[in-house]
Amino acid sequence: MKTVFSCLSVAALFYIAVLTESVPIPENVTMTSLDMGLVLEWDPPQNTTNQLFNYTAEVKTWRDYEPVCVGSSSLRCDFTNNVTTFGLYHLRVRTELHGETSDWVETGEFAVDKITEISAPRVELSSRKGQTEVDITDPPMRSRNLRDVFTPVSYLIRFWKEGEAKKEELIREQNRVMLLDLEPLVNYCVEVAVLYSYNKKTSQFSNMTCVTNSPSSEVEPWLIAVVLLVSFLVVLVTVVLIFLAVWYSYEGCKMIFPNPKLPDNLKQFLSQQSQSPILSAMQESTQLKEHFHELRIFHTEPDTQQKDGSAVHTGTDECCTGADVTQRGEEKSETASTTSEEQHLLAE
Ligand SMILES: *[C@@H]1O[C@H](CO)[C@@H](O)[C@H](O)[C@H]1NC(C)=O
Ligand SMILES: *[C@@H]1O[C@H](CO)[C@@H](O)[C@H](O)[C@H]1NC(C)=O
Ligand SMILES: *[C@@H]1O[C@H](CO)[C@@H](O)[C@H](O)[C@H]1NC(C)=O
Ligand SMILES: *[C@@H]1O[C@H](CO)[C@@H](O)[C@H](O)[C@H]1NC(C)=O
Ligand SMILES: *[C@@H]1O[C@H](CO)[C@@H](O)[C@H](O)[C@H]1NC(C)=O
Repeated sequence: MKTVFSCLSVAALFYIAVLTESVPIPENVTMTSLDMGLVLEWDPPQNTTNQLFNYTAEVKTWRDYEPVCVGSSSLRCDFTNNVTTFGLYHLRVRTELHGETSDWVETGEFAVDKITEISAPRVELSSRKGQTEVDITDPPMRSRNLRDVFTPVSYLIRFWKEGEAKKEELIREQNRVMLLDLEPLVNYCVEVAVLYSYNKKTSQFSNMTCVTNSPSSEVEPWLIAVVLLVSFLVVLVTVVLIFLAVWYSYEGCKMIFPNPKLPDNLKQFLSQQSQSPILSAMQESTQLKEHFHELRIFHTEPDTQQKDGSAVHTGTDECCTGADVTQRGEEKSETASTTSEEQHLLAE
């Protein structure tokens, strides 16, 4: 009898031990809240990789636990639609195997607005006139609105020259922000996070976005000065060159054609004779002309007094022109021709 009882008791003990160990609890139970959603996740029990379990997850409101995911094989349960943002909750999950259940694995008490993480905002960059604009879009929330829950929302903007380690930071409340004082035609990269919960919490940072800053439309003052100086110098040099060109061509003409008014016979004479006999030769020629006048006066004597006077007059003129024949050679020859015409008239 005693042995039978002991056998039974051993069997009962073994049975109890198998029962308690038969359904192990889920492992690595974690609660995550992103963008005000609420998800409970877990791993299957240890050393049971070949076995399939069911799981039940519940949420405890102010009154009692309520099942949300019942007998499901999924390793996660989404509570987003079964909680409010500011309420206080507990979550719990257990393993189920052929009607048997494990113990509950319970989370601590929490409120969604206190634990939630915010994902990265969307960022678009555009650049014009030497400035780059960062356009930020809030990440979409799973429930409610970001600004309904976290009233002062601002943005932490980091930007840097591509390839450089030093990053500059800006905090702004507007979702369109100009990055000023960027160098033109340089690649800049930007990443942005949302600051919320009175700037105590930072969202995930957006993926790095890069843009080439546009060339500045404003002309630098030193560039204007240089352009003005260069154009002034160009104008100055041009004027000087034109003046020199005109001057030298004038001088050249004077050298090639020293006295274009010189009569042909004189030129011939000049080419044949050296300078000092020229003057004497000219004086001789004037004296010859004077002799010729005397002859003319002789002709006019039988006619009227007036004609005689004019003839005398032209004679004196001729005498004068003859005197400075070196300078007014052509004039002289003209006058000579007129006098010869007059002479012809007088002859009539
Ligand atoms: C629980 O998480 C740890 C670390 O992530 C991992 O090493 C372990 O394998 C997980 N447990 C199960 C049962 O998957
Ligand atoms: C799982 O198996 C390893 C050896 O394979 C053992 O050391 C460990 O105690 C087991 N864990 C459980 C919970 O049974
Ligand atoms: C949880 O939310 C889902 C979807 O809105 C709903 O069908 C279900 O009844 C809710 N469960 C509880 C316990 O409130
Ligand atoms: C899991 O649940 C389904 C449906 O409720 C059931 O058919 C299956 O037998 C369960 N699996 C285990 C291991 O309990
Ligand atoms: C950031 O980049 C990763 C990998 O390139 C991509 O999977 C992810 O969707 C990106 N995130 C955003 C917000 O664009």
